[in-house]
Amino acid sequence: MEENRLEQTFLGFKLTSPVMVASGFLTRNVELLKIAEKHGAGGISTKACMLLPQKEVPLAFRPDVTVLPRAAGMLAPGDKRPPGEEILKMVREIKQQGTRLMILGNTIGGGKDLKKWQYLARELEAAGCDALELNAAHPFIDVPPEVFMARFADLLAQAVKAVKDAISIPVIVKLTPITSDLKLVAQSCEEAGADAITITNGLPATPPIDIWNGGGPLSRTLKNLTWSVLCGPALFPIASYGVAHVAKSVKIPVIGCGGVTTWQDAVQMIMWGASAVEVCTAIHLDGFQVIGQINRGLKYFMEEKGYSSIEDFRGLSLKQLVPQNEVAIKEDYRVAVREDRCNLCMRCLRIGQCLAISLRDNAIVIDNDRCVPCGTCVQICPQQAIEIQ
Ligand SMILES: Cc1cc2nc3c(=O)[nH]c(=O)nc-3n(C[C@H](O)[C@H](O)[C@H](O)COP(=O)(O)O)c2cc1C
Ligand code: SF4
Ligand code: SF4
Repeated sequence: MEENRLEQTFLGFKLTSPVMVASGFLTRNVELLKIAEKHGAGGISTKACMLLPQKEVPLAFRPDVTVLPRAAGMLAPGDKRPPGEEILKMVREIKQQGTRLMILGNTIGGGKDLKKWQYLARELEAAGCDALELNAAHPFIDVPPEVFMARFADLLAQAVKAVKDAISIPVIVKLTPITSDLKLVAQSCEEAGADAITITNGLPATPPIDIWNGGGPLSRTLKNLTWSVLCGPALFPIASYGVAHVAKSVKIPVIGCGGVTTWQDAVQMIMWGASAVEVCTAIHLDGFQVIGQINRGLKYFMEEKGYSSIEDFRGLSLKQLVPQNEVAIKEDYRVAVREDRCNLCMRCLRIGQCLAISLRDNAIVIDNDRCVPCGTCVQICPQQAIEIQ
């Protein structure tokens, strides 16, 4: 049988692919989990499980992608959260069906009440979860601070410790880079016994508004406005910053989440130190087949590069990361225009900071002595006619 280069042992579980479906709307029932499995996901993180009386349960996010032109997914709260019991039932059912998915039980937990955290953890373990994912990065900003626990290293460490004491499955903590000291928060989770870190949840944002109609919601399904969450491609560099920062600060494994859309994104997350990635918005927009695409791309990449396991290229970029004052700049570059490609569209003449490009004798000319080099011309030329050599 052909070896599966994507397979790895992750927190004691045989993970068939490093690609997991992130907690949310896509992981709220067995039907969706089975589709995820069919498309080759290695695991899933359940929709957050909250065992609270229904009237105390905060609203959940629902997909509301009104900012697509900016290549970002935007969510607005608005749907009722599935009751915690439904999530537990979903886990029991998928486990009884003999799934090969790694099931992460995602929970927002119990705020300052450590007994509530323990209760939730025990219920998720008893239902059959392979690991817990404590969502300490719930991005609401107008809720009691204990909900946004990733900002409070001490409080979070207490919750992690309490949960670790209560159960024997691995405990993953989901963090956000929006915190006063990400290194401190990640390290205190590790010291408290966390087995891995996921980073990040979506980040707090304002929803898009209808400027022609008094500034109300642009979304046609909302009557008023509330805080939103930014997720999708726009989140990727912030999420990979979080992965790099956490992977540098702790020894436990990291799951990269936020904006992962292509296999190249997954490779980048792994090169920044992630052992696995979670995907959400890309699947909302393009279906579960995104998982297959990422898996196939990863396999192709690994074959081309001769990597036999994820570990072979994990952290490669992290090793090259230096403080800003140590960054080494190449001196011997030269920006050149390929006349065979340039169609004189004049786009490159509009670059704000550039004093090096001009039009002379009906040709684009670059004065390399005046070049910064910012690379903008290479990025924006529609003909790929400009190169840095
Ligand atoms: C509709 C929706 C609901 C979500 N619900 C949860 C949740 O219950 N628990 C959680 O930890 N994250 C939740 N998230 C955040 C995602 O798991 C993920 O962290 C975030 O969307 C960033 O990944 P992405 O850019 O691939 O979407 C939700 C995201 C979406 C889009
Ligand atoms: S943007 Fe590219 S194609 Fe357009 S003028 Fe400049 S070099 Fe030529
Ligand atoms: S690299 Fe930047 S400064 Fe140099 S020519 Fe291109 S746009 Fe101008």
